[in-house]
Amino acid sequence: MKKLVSVLLVLSLMFTLVACNSAEKATSEPEEESLKIGVTIYKFDDNFMSFVRRAVEKNAEGKAELILNDSQNDQAKQNDQVEMMLSKGVKSLAINLVDPQAAPTIIAKAKEEGTPVVFFNKEPSAEDMASYEKCWYVGTTSSESGIIQGKLIADSWKNHPEWDKNRDGKIQYVLLKGEPGHPDAEARTKYSVETVVSEGIQVDELELQTGMWDSVKAKELMDAWFAKHGDSIEFVIANNDAMALGAVNSLKAEGYFKEDKIMPVVGVDAIPDALTQIEAGTLVGSVLNDAANQGKATVDLALNVAEGKDVLDGTEWKLDDKKSVRVPYLPITNDNIQIAKDCYAE
Ligand code: GAL
Ligand code: CA
Repeated sequence: MKKLVSVLLVLSLMFTLVACNSAEKATSEPEEESLKIGVTIYKFDDNFMSFVRRAVEKNAEGKAELILNDSQNDQAKQNDQVEMMLSKGVKSLAINLVDPQAAPTIIAKAKEEGTPVVFFNKEPSAEDMASYEKCWYVGTTSSESGIIQGKLIADSWKNHPEWDKNRDGKIQYVLLKGEPGHPDAEARTKYSVETVVSEGIQVDELELQTGMWDSVKAKELMDAWFAKHGDSIEFVIANNDAMALGAVNSLKAEGYFKEDKIMPVVGVDAIPDALTQIEAGTLVGSVLNDAANQGKATVDLALNVAEGKDVLDGTEWKLDDKKSVRVPYLPITNDNIQIAKDCYAE
């Protein structure tokens, strides 16, 4: 009898333990079921995108569990990452493509699961955007950055007649292009120069090559161009700040930016390192590419669609006819540098 009682006691104790355990499980359930959003960045090792990534992380805090992937500039890797995230049950995807042409591949995978996709920073074609009802884009109007940069070049050139070293009335420029095929790189290259010309300034293109958005590559190009053209170069136009800063490093080694040896250099992004150079007088100016708001809009949209809400629910963003939110660019010089500082301080 005694034995039976103790067996019963042990049994009931076990039952209580099991019951407690399952109660605990029930209360922790919502956490385990937290909303998962799958994010890819084309490569973590990109100056500007690291600021967008930070903004994405900050805005998702306490609202969703991000599965964040570095696609290491490899589209095949990104495709695998998307499959992995879909198999983990993400409720939406936020995709910074490696190759803008790869949007159909990503869309096909998402479509199979009915998962919504918010592309950001690398804009898919209008046709791809129209091919899936549950996809959107967050970025900018690429041409705007080229036009603003062109205005910066024209205005500063008109204010500094001494920059025309050979006095032929034309700008002999070199241009550091971003990744070919990237809508930002193509538009900045085209519109910056076109805007200068439309301001009544004639130009001679001494060199144009891609530095792939990268400081080190840009420095190598600038070294080679300087060896070839030397002081006949009168302006350095860069599709982004990382490359502008690479060019500045090259030019410093050639004795520029000391005493009155000046080479005008312009970029795009207005990242903190570029702001320091604008303040030091080494960069003429830049164009603010608003990382904070692009990251925020990406998360706002991805969260809404993950929860099955209207994509713009509770936000102030607007969609254009290509289902895209476009964050404005802004010219930045020493006069209004604080705006860019505030943006990146967030
Ligand atoms: C651009 C930015 C570049 C680079 C590129 C990556 O918008 O200006 O610096 O980050 O995106 O896709
Ligand atoms: Ca000239």
